[in-house]
Amino acid sequence: MPAVATGTDLREQILALKKERNAVILAHNYQIGEIQDIADYVGDSLGLAYRASETDADVIAFCGVHFMAETAKIVNPDKTVILPDKDAGCSLEESCPAPDLEAFLKENQDKNYYVIAYINCSAGVKALCDCICTSGNAVKIVEAAPADRPILFVPDQNLGEWVMQQTGRKMDLWQGSCYVHVEFTRDSIQKIKDEYPDAAVVAHPECTTAVRLLADEVCSTEKMITFCRDSPAKNIIVITESGMLHRLQKEAPDKNLIAGPTDRCNCADCKFMKMNTLQKLHDCLLNLSPEVTMEETIRQQAEAPLQRMLELSR
Ligand code: 13P
Ligand code: SF4
Repeated sequence: MPAVATGTDLREQILALKKERNAVILAHNYQIGEIQDIADYVGDSLGLAYRASETDADVIAFCGVHFMAETAKIVNPDKTVILPDKDAGCSLEESCPAPDLEAFLKENQDKNYYVIAYINCSAGVKALCDCICTSGNAVKIVEAAPADRPILFVPDQNLGEWVMQQTGRKMDLWQGSCYVHVEFTRDSIQKIKDEYPDAAVVAHPECTTAVRLLADEVCSTEKMITFCRDSPAKNIIVITESGMLHRLQKEAPDKNLIAGPTDRCNCADCKFMKMNTLQKLHDCLLNLSPEVTMEETIRQQAEAPLQRMLELSR
């Protein structure tokens, strides 16, 4: 019978491979705890994009979903970018295929849209846009858009609505959504608020307006950390994907963090984020596969709006 690696062995093997490959491990806040704990950096999409663009490692082992790893390759093309599970996608990315956006823009050429894409989209979609944004900088990016052009915001209608409310700028919205965040409902959140009447509430902007209205703060996953640390409340209801709780428990250990429930479940898992495991991280470092690659013309076209975003949010 082959020897089975224990958790500690596997961790040690990953660290040895990381050294051998001169790799950096970047992980999103929604990754499983074991991956967050072994990563060199854990953060939101914006922080991860900066880290990926700045690293001098030869290999970026990206523990997140495909569009995030693709972003790393776009901004740092000389690196080998690997993703533990190549099928780790995103419902927002799926909701906006590049050919559909291209056809829409052709049909509406007369509108001369300034196109802003939420980073949760494919390289092909990024290549068709003027500027990219994340949940952490969307308000700033929309405020910096030319005042004399209509904005088309793709693909997240909920983030788009929130940004419209924050900026007062009208935008045309692509009708995509995150299948995880739309599961939270007004009822499911009101119930938990009734259980903890003194709790502060923080929500991700991918939630619907009805849910966001029940929150004290709406922000990116990284900004949730500052909110929880600084809040005078002991009990905090966190309305986002479940992985966030692991990071928050480490960063704000004195708080009682309560996962926002959906109508069906006490917390919400993103099936794509949860595809990555320690074993798959080990295997991808060993085999340098699955590797994220793309056509160089698409990469260059996608790089311009991404760099615009990185410059605007420095
Ligand atoms: P953040 O950039 O806020 O971490 O959000 C990424 C994401 O996929 C949320 O569902
Ligand atoms: Fe995409 Fe939603 Fe998963 Fe984030 S939580 S990666 S938006 S499906």
